[in-house]
Amino acid sequence: MKIGVLTSGGDCPGLNAVIRGIVRKGIRSHEDTFVGIRDGWRGLLEDDVFDMSMLDVRGLSGRGGTILGTSRTHPYEGGGPERMREVMSAHGIDAIVAIGGEGTLAGAARLVHEEGLNIIGVPKTIDNDLSGTDYTFGFDSAHAIATESIDRLRTTAESHHRCMVIEVMGRNVGWIALHAGMAGGAHAILMPEFPVSFDQIEEWVTSARDRGRAPIVVVAEGFIPEGLDEQVADRGVDNKGRTRLGGIADFLAPKIEEITGIESRATILGHLQRGGSPTAYDRVLSTRLGMAAADLAHNGDWGKMASLKGTDIVSVDMASAVDRLKSVPLQRWEEAQVLFG
Ligand code: F6P
Repeated sequence: MKIGVLTSGGDCPGLNAVIRGIVRKGIRSHEDTFVGIRDGWRGLLEDDVFDMSMLDVRGLSGRGGTILGTSRTHPYEGGGPERMREVMSAHGIDAIVAIGGEGTLAGAARLVHEEGLNIIGVPKTIDNDLSGTDYTFGFDSAHAIATESIDRLRTTAESHHRCMVIEVMGRNVGWIALHAGMAGGAHAILMPEFPVSFDQIEEWVTSARDRGRAPIVVVAEGFIPEGLDEQVADRGVDNKGRTRLGGIADFLAPKIEEITGIESRATILGHLQRGGSPTAYDRVLSTRLGMAAADLAHNGDWGKMASLKGTDIVSVDMASAVDRLKSVPLQRWEEAQVLFG
């Protein structure tokens, strides 16, 4: 069987380890052959593919980014499914493994169910917001980087008796903020799921200061303070829910300084959280997901994706990964609040 592999959407530490897992397992266990598809669906629509051997995936488990490149091209653009069929048949490609997030997997599920294309999915996002899998690879790496950044920012905050507002990724969910904030000992963690008032933020920040601490506030990029929607909206919000005039941390730091009198600084970690090598945990998870995807493709389990359940890699319907966002549950938010202030 000849299998095409593509990575689509925002990149994520662990993508290369997935690619390596797919190719090594597919060649070693099934004698399948592989082609790489460059820059997500774009490569399939524009016939930008190359043969991939064991040599091409050598030494990839710890390498960040994706050797295949990625893009946010929609699969129904530029000829859509018809064009994909043409390119697949020209190269003798029997199936595709699509490694991507919510948009990619939703598109892939549609291509399977409406167009009859042979596609297997692997869920990917640093945000950890996909249902249908317990954790996504990349999340562990992203919050490890955010935690290290909090540790570093704390020492300079303490030297200057300042409050640090640290913005992490998470348009719709606060998983990175929650985990990095807990690991880094934040005095307040702000997430899109749980809007809180400025009075509450002031209480947490001043309580930390009154105990002689330099207050650390970790905020997910999609957080909007309770009652302040209008002021934030005035700053202009783009179609991903992000403020156009800088991040939410740039908005919060001067506000905190104004209401608490504590000198405050904002740091937006941004794409640092997506770059560089995956953690050991992510390398193992990605490799296992890739190997499972190779088996699913060889067995013709179209419309399925490899997923983590507990410590097992299982297969679930791709559509189940995208039917709802996996947000932080109330119980995790209440648990974290005990540590605030
Ligand atoms: O979905 C992953 C993610 O990293 C989000 O956390 C973030 O909002 C977005 O992608 C950034 O996208 P881009 O790289 O296109 O700016």
